[in-house]
Amino acid sequence: MLPKDSLFDLDLANGDNHSQEKIDLSIIVPTRNEVGNINPLLNRINQATSGLHAEVLFVDDSTDDTPQVIESAVEIFPHLNVRLLHRSAEQRSGGLGGAVLLGLQNIDSEYACVMDGDLQHPPELLPELLRTAQKENADLVVATRRSDDSRVSGLNTARNLISRALDFTARAFFPRRLRGVSDPLSGFFLLRLKALNLANMHPNGFKILLEILVRNPKLRKAEVAFHFGERLTGESKASTKEALKYLNLLLTLKFGSSSLRLLGFALVGATGILVNSLVLYLVTSRLDIYYLYSVGIATIASTIWNFSFTEVLVYRAARHSHGRARRLLMFSTLNVGALLVRGPVIYFLTSMFGVNYLISNLITLVLMTGVRFLASDYMIWGKTFTRRSSTGDLLKPITAPAGMTYFYNIHNLVTVVSEGQLPELEPFRVSETITHPTINVRIGIPPTQKAGAAKNPRYLRYREVFGHIGFEVGIWMGETVQVIASPLLRLSPHVLYTNVVEPILRWTFVKRGYALVHGATLSFGDEAYLITARTDTGKTTTLLKILSHQRRNSDQAAFLSDDMTIISPDGLALTYPKPLTISAHTLFAINSKTLNLKEKAPLPLQSRIHSRTGRKVASFINKTLLPAATINMFLQMVVPPPKYFVSKLIPNVKLNRTAQVAGMFIIERGSDGSSSIDNQKALEILLSNCEDAYGFPPYNDLKEFLYHDDGVDLRQIEQGIIRQAFGGLSATLVKSKKLDWWCLIPTFIDENFANACSCDDGLALNVLQNASLRTASGD
Ligand code: GDD
Ligand code: MN
Repeated sequence: MLPKDSLFDLDLANGDNHSQEKIDLSIIVPTRNEVGNINPLLNRINQATSGLHAEVLFVDDSTDDTPQVIESAVEIFPHLNVRLLHRSAEQRSGGLGGAVLLGLQNIDSEYACVMDGDLQHPPELLPELLRTAQKENADLVVATRRSDDSRVSGLNTARNLISRALDFTARAFFPRRLRGVSDPLSGFFLLRLKALNLANMHPNGFKILLEILVRNPKLRKAEVAFHFGERLTGESKASTKEALKYLNLLLTLKFGSSSLRLLGFALVGATGILVNSLVLYLVTSRLDIYYLYSVGIATIASTIWNFSFTEVLVYRAARHSHGRARRLLMFSTLNVGALLVRGPVIYFLTSMFGVNYLISNLITLVLMTGVRFLASDYMIWGKTFTRRSSTGDLLKPITAPAGMTYFYNIHNLVTVVSEGQLPELEPFRVSETITHPTINVRIGIPPTQKAGAAKNPRYLRYREVFGHIGFEVGIWMGETVQVIASPLLRLSPHVLYTNVVEPILRWTFVKRGYALVHGATLSFGDEAYLITARTDTGKTTTLLKILSHQRRNSDQAAFLSDDMTIISPDGLALTYPKPLTISAHTLFAINSKTLNLKEKAPLPLQSRIHSRTGRKVASFINKTLLPAATINMFLQMVVPPPKYFVSKLIPNVKLNRTAQVAGMFIIERGSDGSSSIDNQKALEILLSNCEDAYGFPPYNDLKEFLYHDDGVDLRQIEQGIIRQAFGGLSATLVKSKKLDWWCLIPTFIDENFANACSCDDGLALNVLQNASLRTASGD
């Protein structure tokens, strides 16, 4: 008998079967009540795959005897490796698509073919699908019902029409991604497993191929025509409910899961406004009640209305942190609380300005929709991201919200998996799934430490007055650093990276024996030169000007990093190519025509907000009691910082991955002059510049937690790495009033470099002066 309550993987193949050998092809068959079709299907698969070493994995959601029939089929087909995954009633998430995904997760052959269990998909096609994949080097081969050579006898006129309509809608949503695929809704296809990122899949319902196509745009595709025949026995599970799931899938794939919820919420809200206005009108005019009292009564009516429909329509499939009674209580509190704001506004508009009370009521309701949605979505109907009881739960898998997962591999030193995009790490993005990341960033509600219980020293939560609606993170230092960031941080990706992930990265690199040093790095030949300065001195402009003012055909300087550089103890610099934060002025300085109008137009506003003055205001806010990190998060959501990769700004720039550090420049504003400074002093300046790079909230609240991990003081280790890396090096301090460091720096390096840089004013003179300085400093 099959256990009813646990996922049951039955490797039905006998010991003497070829279960040890390599499988050429895994055939995944989702089944739901196909009792009469199993044996005929296996029979035909058996004949069709006689030359191959194939396995058949049934993922079964049946309530009839299908699993028993599959079990006994093993004896009948000893040469097929027949396996069965049976899902009990509670495990059938995602329906047909969920079953297929589970199947894909449970095989490890190179190719998998998904096919129906009712023989509408002819098994005789299997070898041809595999051959096509190999011959055309394709990642995905779709068996199509919609090409010239296809035949469809298995759909009646109505179903055929519906199928065409669904196909048409899909193409309207994803014209580019579906180009060249004649049947994106087919249930019969072959995949090369490695080409697919399963972590991003959240299937629900029949159309899993569509989700694969949309989420994996780079797949190499091919097609094979076939005859979609009639069902052998039993009946189709297609239904109106499936059609609704399909619509849901299209919207989610297109707009993401929360915008779909917002749409639902707004639609329910719109009907709620009608109910509210109607009740308000009836109570005021028919029952002759004072209009402000009626506003209260109308709110109660629309609250009940909205609650019911939001529960049933918008959040039906979600898992919640609170029970239904609690949700109703919270939702009512929210709406009654909103009355405290709405009431005075309505009174003001109507009794002072004579606006019709129905209109005043409407205005306040519409204005409150956004706030009510955020509160409802995150606090009332929020998913059970974690149970709040203990931080140990952080180890357990949580239900991730539908959406992308991003994988980053930084020089094979540190890997990051994140549910929110980290734009700064894009150059390190990889397409393969990373299963054991160094840092794992999830979006959700960080757990609290249980009151009264002993504090877990390896867990820290940072929050400001707004709680989950604002900037909030929980960090758990395990073998993998687990980060849970509040939902809105996903919409402010630069803040998620800069204020959450980078501070963690800094100390993670130290644990790996490397240091993340605050400085720009250029290489010339095999030698790297670090340029360090206090924030906002002019490091980025200097770097850009050196790189863009090079004479053609000469040996060129190459870019390693602009803001942070990874340094090993033996002085190797590894590229850390974050995008550069530029200003309108910087762009002018390099004379770049690479930004288009859409990118250039907001630049003045962006640079105003993200410039030195902007940062001064921010650090002022920081000194007050205002929630600085939250304000920063919202600000960057509305006005993202102007960040561009170096190759976007200087299209032909030479990039370098690693180089040995040969020198260091410290640039400062002020009276002109250069001097060579000793190693000890240089290190002090470098270390203090490193500290200067951090400091914006919540860094100060996190830092001790981050660098005192497990009783070790990582600051000592970081300093050790930096001291060792820059051990013998002296540094050159370059001061300038005119801010023309870019002209000066090359002259210190060597003549070739200086010649390569076409700095016009007084270059020759500089070379001469600096040559003598170099000899004087004795290196
Ligand atoms: N495990 C599991 N769970 N299997 C399911 C479920 C489920 O909830 N629902 C259906 N299946 C299985 C069926 O047992 C069958 O093997 C296969 O999925 C296809 O289901 P049918 O009920 O026969 O679907 P259809 O023939 O109407 O639809 C076919 O054509 C569609 C395009 O028109 C399928 O191939 C669809 O995938 C395809 O989109
Ligand atoms: Mn069918």
